[in-house]
Amino acid sequence: MSTINYSEKIPNNVNLSEDRALQRALEQWQPNYLSWWQDMGPDGSQNFDVYLRTAISVDPEGWAQFGHVKMPDYRWGIFLNPPEQDRKIHFGDHLGEAAWQDVPGEHRANLRRIIVTQGDTEPASVEQQRHLGLTCPSQYDLRNLFQVNVEEGRHLWAMVYLLHKYFGKDGREEGEALLERRSGNQDNPRILQAFNEQTPDWLSFFMFTYFTDRDGKFQLCALAESAFDPLSRTTKFMLTEEAHHMFVGESGISRVIQRTCQAMNELKTDDPKTLREAGVIDLPTLQRYLNFHFSVTIDLFGADESSNAATFYSSGLKGRFEEGRRADDHQLRGQTYRVLNAADGKLVQKEVPMLNALNEVLRDDYIKDSMGGVARWNKVIEKAGIPFRLVTPHKAFHRNIGALAGVKVSPEGVVVSEAEWNAKKDQWLPSGADRAFVASLMGRVVEPGKFANWIAPPALGINRQPVDFEYVRFA
Ligand SMILES: [Fe+2]
Ligand SMILES: [Fe+2]
Repeated sequence: MSTINYSEKIPNNVNLSEDRALQRALEQWQPNYLSWWQDMGPDGSQNFDVYLRTAISVDPEGWAQFGHVKMPDYRWGIFLNPPEQDRKIHFGDHLGEAAWQDVPGEHRANLRRIIVTQGDTEPASVEQQRHLGLTCPSQYDLRNLFQVNVEEGRHLWAMVYLLHKYFGKDGREEGEALLERRSGNQDNPRILQAFNEQTPDWLSFFMFTYFTDRDGKFQLCALAESAFDPLSRTTKFMLTEEAHHMFVGESGISRVIQRTCQAMNELKTDDPKTLREAGVIDLPTLQRYLNFHFSVTIDLFGADESSNAATFYSSGLKGRFEEGRRADDHQLRGQTYRVLNAADGKLVQKEVPMLNALNEVLRDDYIKDSMGGVARWNKVIEKAGIPFRLVTPHKAFHRNIGALAGVKVSPEGVVVSEAEWNAKKDQWLPSGADRAFVASLMGRVVEPGKFANWIAPPALGINRQPVDFEYVRFA
């Protein structure tokens, strides 16, 4: 059952044709999805032939094929990992019971909310990134952007399948609403704030795919543990696609750093002004972008203390990152965890029931994982013989959700006055001038093998193709 049936209107590996009502419902949603793609998908790109990866199986070995496709013809479909025989719930109050193949009535509302919230981020990021094709630094990068975009579209399909199959009329209505909300729209915005921010330039895009797609990874990993088996199976396959998105971010920033360091060594300077005049992005500006994307993304994990998080865990809807690898009792009653609060101008640790702190637990796991890539970026700087190092800011820095919301904290983790914050915020977060400078570098480079001045070419092409391969053929 791992092979995907491509002979149907909706490619799938879930025997869709055996459930006529579901198939009809999804086939009715399909044209609405395509018209959303026409309106909100990558700007001006409908006729390009793009060298895309398309899933053809869910086997861990070689699940995809590559070939030039027009994006609106991409075969978006429904791909679930194969079922695990006799899968058991392995955390929460139902520990040891059989995983659910259907939605238990008492968890219906919460599961629907979890699926809709995840589903909403997928089209949101496509909307956020829709103008970036117009300023791509190379064909290689353009192709990667489009690959990320079509896969986010497929992730929407993954969530809409669950809504249609398991939530009846409510689910179908949610499926429509997912196509109606718009990133950044005042009247009908996307659900989570980070998905209403703009992704105005490619530096933001690389930071977004490194940091914010990694939030996606952690959310999907937590949902892959779910007692609701279809959710677990669909998120497991989404994770294999997600890995590429984070690669795009990590390697993108790494190439920006490489180019900057090269210019620093050639010009023998670390002066941002001189470097900017040479058309590269100075390292302090990269640090400010990093601070912004890191802090906005860690807000996505939600309030540090949350009774919803406790309910989601205890009832088996959402586990922890790598739940199965943890050596505790997987129920967590009576255990505690430390969260941060601010009191009398200081950050203080507060011991709270661990079940209520599971958002914080996931956030801390995320932070550890993100620091890994930052260390790899620093290796690039180190190798160039430059003493500068990038750092992830303190987790209390620039927060808007939870106990730390609105508390003014420096990137080093010191609570500061309003006046000090205002005096220093342009050193800590991208200023209007930084953003204008980065925007000024964005010009379209589409000749095969050519790259914008501010970014180094990748070491390798996609799918073992050369770097100067024609990744996108323009109509
Ligand atoms: Fe996604
Ligand atoms: Fe993603």
